[in-house]
Amino acid sequence: MAKEKNVYVCEKCDYQSSKWYGKCPNCNSFNSFILETYTDDKSSSNQSPKKSLLTRDTLDNEPVKLKDISSEDVPRIKTNCAELDRVLGGGLVLGSVILLSGEPGIGKSTLLLQLCEYNSKDNKVLYVSGEESASQISMRAKRLGVNNGNIYLLTDTNAVSIIEKSKKLEPKIIVIDSIQTMYHSESQTIPGSITQIRECASLFINYAKTNDVIVIMVGHVTKDGNIAGPKVLEHMVDTVLYFEGDQKQNCRLLRTMKNRYGSTNELGVFQMTGTGLEEVENPSELLLSDRPKNVSGNCGVCVIEGSRPLVAEIQALITPTVYANPKRTSSGIDYNRVSLVLAVLEKRLGLKFSLNDAYINVIGGIRIEESSSDVGMALAMISSIRDIPIKDDIVCIGELGLSGEVRAVQRIEDRIKEVVKLGFKTIILPKRNAKNLRNIPKECTIVPISNVYEIISILSKLQ
Ligand code: TYD
Ligand code: MG
Repeated sequence: MAKEKNVYVCEKCDYQSSKWYGKCPNCNSFNSFILETYTDDKSSSNQSPKKSLLTRDTLDNEPVKLKDISSEDVPRIKTNCAELDRVLGGGLVLGSVILLSGEPGIGKSTLLLQLCEYNSKDNKVLYVSGEESASQISMRAKRLGVNNGNIYLLTDTNAVSIIEKSKKLEPKIIVIDSIQTMYHSESQTIPGSITQIRECASLFINYAKTNDVIVIMVGHVTKDGNIAGPKVLEHMVDTVLYFEGDQKQNCRLLRTMKNRYGSTNELGVFQMTGTGLEEVENPSELLLSDRPKNVSGNCGVCVIEGSRPLVAEIQALITPTVYANPKRTSSGIDYNRVSLVLAVLEKRLGLKFSLNDAYINVIGGIRIEESSSDVGMALAMISSIRDIPIKDDIVCIGELGLSGEVRAVQRIEDRIKEVVKLGFKTIILPKRNAKNLRNIPKECTIVPISNVYEIISILSKLQ
């Protein structure tokens, strides 16, 4: 009978040990050890758990001069969806492997089924599902209007048999929904373990590289938002995409976390509708569509997300606290950034935020990552605590330093172009950015500021 063997494996660096560690001796991560069980089956292949089951056939490769390698552009297949092409750096690269992750129910399966439809005109596509039944997928496909004859569906979780079936079918694109449901029938570990995920992923990656096939794998996320499974999964694939958004709202954002074939931090914007995901050509218009008018605590900001500027609205609600410690909540913006701006305003302007609760929100379900929204957030907070509404046509750009200085931001001209297009008339921006500005329309007023002290006087002037 096969004997079971327990090994503790670090999720972050793959270090293996017979005993559990709170802190990994190799990479120093805390709480990263997971128990893996191997069956000590003499009849199966005699490999160590660390070694991949498939090794690439690279023994024959000889070193070649770097300058002799042709540097032609990698061949890409356009996805026929501008937002997807944007995040992928111009389209799907043949032989590449993409990992798409996101919270359950955010729309990963929907997006991939639509991607199959966009690409199935000229290419055979295989959609493998380990999560849903064929009838469930067919119902969704009907709802999305996906009915191309080039799309094949397979409900299977055995990675080895999926590869065998792919060899016969020869699809150009394979979707694996999801990598966590797959198991390797020839592996010694128990299905669902991180080693199994790694083995399955390496099987698909090998197949993609050796056959010039595009493999897109769905990856689950853990409770704290990280991609489930071994960290090496992210290192193994070429592109990591993250699908996010507020599930109660329609806006969905597709972010590039890693891309060997394009720039990272790129952003694609979609809207979830009754008939699937639709691309949003002008995200700023969508984000500003529900703007409240003439209410204190709102301020327009312009941030650069990926390669394009986005205009969003920050809302602040500052109310006297009834608690011993004032309450602070933030949605759509980093909590630490909110605390920093509150502290700067309290210290430099003497505004008593410590006696007030602060609720900060970004309208439209988008998450702002860039610090150029600091001054806009500060203006919204001051507007709320003083109960002075900010006019609708004002937009505020700038990063706030700890001494209260307003720091310059990058790509100011692109930002100005975007806000002018949306009809904003007054642009508050850092003084250093205000020099050498060109092509400012006559109807636009530029208000340069250099520190936080000027915000109060600007607020009273611009009412
Ligand atoms: P799904 O793609 O199954 O999410 P994931 O694969 O990330 O778990 O999407 C599920 C959600 O999307 C579900 O709550 C219903 C919603 N949805 C729509 O609103 N419109 C649609 O056309 C479809 C197919 C799904
Ligand atoms: Mg799904």
